[in-house]
Amino acid sequence: MMGPAQTVRARVFEAPGEALAARELRLAEIRDDLVRVRLRASGVCGSDLHVADGDWTARGPLVLGHEGAGTVEEVGPGVKDVRVGDGVVLSWFAPCRRCRNCAGGRAWLCQNTKALENTLPDGTTSFEAPDGEPVPAFLGLGTFAEATVVPESAAVKIPDGVPFPVAALIGCSVTTGVGAVVNTARVRTGDSAVVIGCGGVGQAVLLGLGLAGADPIVAVDLSEERLALARELGATHALGGDDPDLEDHIRSITGEGADHAFEAIGRAATMGMLTSLVCRGGQAVIVGMPAEGVTVPLDPFDLADGGKRVLGCNYGSSVPSVDFPKLARLYASGRLPLDRLVGRTATLDEVDGALDDLRRTVGLRTIIRHGNGS
Ligand SMILES: NC(=O)c1ccc[n+]([C@@H]2O[C@H](COP(=O)([O-])OP(=O)(O)OC[C@H]3O[C@@H](n4cnc5c(N)ncnc54)[C@H](O)[C@@H]3O)[C@@H](O)[C@H]2O)c1
Ligand SMILES: [Zn+2]
Ligand SMILES: [Zn+2]
Repeated sequence: MMGPAQTVRARVFEAPGEALAARELRLAEIRDDLVRVRLRASGVCGSDLHVADGDWTARGPLVLGHEGAGTVEEVGPGVKDVRVGDGVVLSWFAPCRRCRNCAGGRAWLCQNTKALENTLPDGTTSFEAPDGEPVPAFLGLGTFAEATVVPESAAVKIPDGVPFPVAALIGCSVTTGVGAVVNTARVRTGDSAVVIGCGGVGQAVLLGLGLAGADPIVAVDLSEERLALARELGATHALGGDDPDLEDHIRSITGEGADHAFEAIGRAATMGMLTSLVCRGGQAVIVGMPAEGVTVPLDPFDLADGGKRVLGCNYGSSVPSVDFPKLARLYASGRLPLDRLVGRTATLDEVDGALDDLRRTVGLRTIIRHGNGS
């Protein structure tokens, strides 16, 4: 049963290739360990686009958006870690905190999360249509809405003073990109690195490489604007993704190949190229996510002979309750200039245009602003 109707405006995926529907939905009633969060900002991530464009199987209706931050508005009786009024970053991987992986400190591999099924932990949905039809939320969040309902483990308090657009980006691209460097690859000072794809996630990889003291840092993208930003964020070299001699150029900069190569686009061709860009003993880190079913060829002789590793990176191998506040503190102390990743502002009504920005690589990360939060 729903409590007193809390109705919000939301943008809903119905079918691939269609504009997101503008719907008025009711929020789930607050109970147990659930938290209602009034959204203040939401990024628009490549993963939202994968759903909107049909790269990934998803059934509509589904409230899209998974890179968000806001203010806690109501908490259930079992909630211990956040209070009404707290500023929180939402985690798209609400961990169960009890399974073998959670207990072992690897929350990003939680075996019990329901977030990947787009529901709350008990299998019910965060939203419902006026006729009672359950409406799931993408990755259990649905940040393209004025407010949402999530389990406590998906709402992480962050220090005051972090602007909501920056906080929103910590919810996905920043945690993924910086985490890929410091948690997944464990880059050491002076290691060389290549980043292929310098969008929201790739620019965060570059910031992580700066933090880790990597050198040289080679940025690769098709967009001049992205490459210019990459240089400002610490890339020592910038190369065009359409450069026919890309491998040779990377080798001439890094010597025998890079210690680490990150793919942050999600394209088969660039993923397939990664292991040839790293030196003997080097690491190829897959951060971008391709369409379902895509495979890439590997050269096992080169991998074995060169002692190379291929690492998959989910959510920057991060634990939200530990890593979100850490990233927020690094921002506050000036070590991570996350505000440089914030692009133009759009309203909830303009989400389709924001998805188009992503398709056409226009501008930086567009931020959907909800209400008047700063
Ligand atoms: N592993 C994870 O946990 C995780 C988390 C978030 C996002 N992702 C994935 O990361 C990928 C990137 O997401 P994003 O939000 O940064 O997208 P984005 O669109 O902002 O960035 C993609 C970038 O790749 C560049 N690009 C495209 N084709 C290229 C080419 N041939 N050579 C070089 N550069 C090229 C584009 O110009 C753009 O700058 C997506 O696949 C997304 O699903 C993965
Ligand atoms: Zn994302
Ligand atoms: Zn778990």
